[in-house]
Amino acid sequence: MSDDKVKCNDVFFFNDLVDVITDLRNYLVSQNFLGLDYYGPINNSLWLPPQMPVIMDESKKIHEARYSKAILLERLRKRIGDCQKCRLSETRINLVFGEGNPGADIVFVGEGPGREEDIQGRPFVGAAGGLLDNMIRAMGLERKDVYIGNIIKCRPPGNRNPADDEISACFPYLEEQLAIISPKVICALGKFAAQTLLNTKVPISRLRGRVHSYTPSVSTGERISIPVVSTYHPAYLLRNPGQKKVVWDDLKVVMELAGIVKKRR
Ligand code: URA
Repeated sequence: MSDDKVKCNDVFFFNDLVDVITDLRNYLVSQNFLGLDYYGPINNSLWLPPQMPVIMDESKKIHEARYSKAILLERLRKRIGDCQKCRLSETRINLVFGEGNPGADIVFVGEGPGREEDIQGRPFVGAAGGLLDNMIRAMGLERKDVYIGNIIKCRPPGNRNPADDEISACFPYLEEQLAIISPKVICALGKFAAQTLLNTKVPISRLRGRVHSYTPSVSTGERISIPVVSTYHPAYLLRNPGQKKVVWDDLKVVMELAGIVKKRR
């Protein structure tokens, strides 16, 4: 074997080894936030040698769980890469993965990227996004406190509704995100989010006003099911501002389920 080939094999072997160690480390971290403290604090080194069990205080646990969730989300984003699972990959500018706090108690789920989201590669940054920001602020939170995603990650041309096969191709990614984040509550924005998460064709007007539940298909061992509060989509609210009152009622239920006491400002 030539020297070059040996070097190349060494590099592949090294990369595999790094993957195995990273997976093992992520596994240990996930065990850690389930309460099994087998090892010491996380730092930026790749591998932490086993140490004596440590007692962690709550805030440190929350910090480390958030850190490990961020790593898992990043790995998922890398795995999705330049997804070509459906025809939307041919017309999109950017795939919109989702963004926010990996340890969020609340995940907002919309339908799919619009024009502005497609351009920026970020969810809810257009007109509907402005209204969603206001809704989040009204809850006493900021955008960075919650996580925001969509049922589909690529913009349908002309903002048409997502097709069933596009949803089937893309929804498993969101399911993985939800399993990693494992929020206390999901707020489904609009018909497509509510019907997909709840696997039903019941209209949004009948889904809202009651707490339903989403059962993760990918388990992290953290939660068996997650409460879902469905409400009207911010884009619908822009056209029908008279419905803001019922949406606020829904958001109050979201706050209650997330255990939020609104801060005085
Ligand atoms: N509408 C959605 O459903 N999602 C976005 O990200 C933007 C607008």
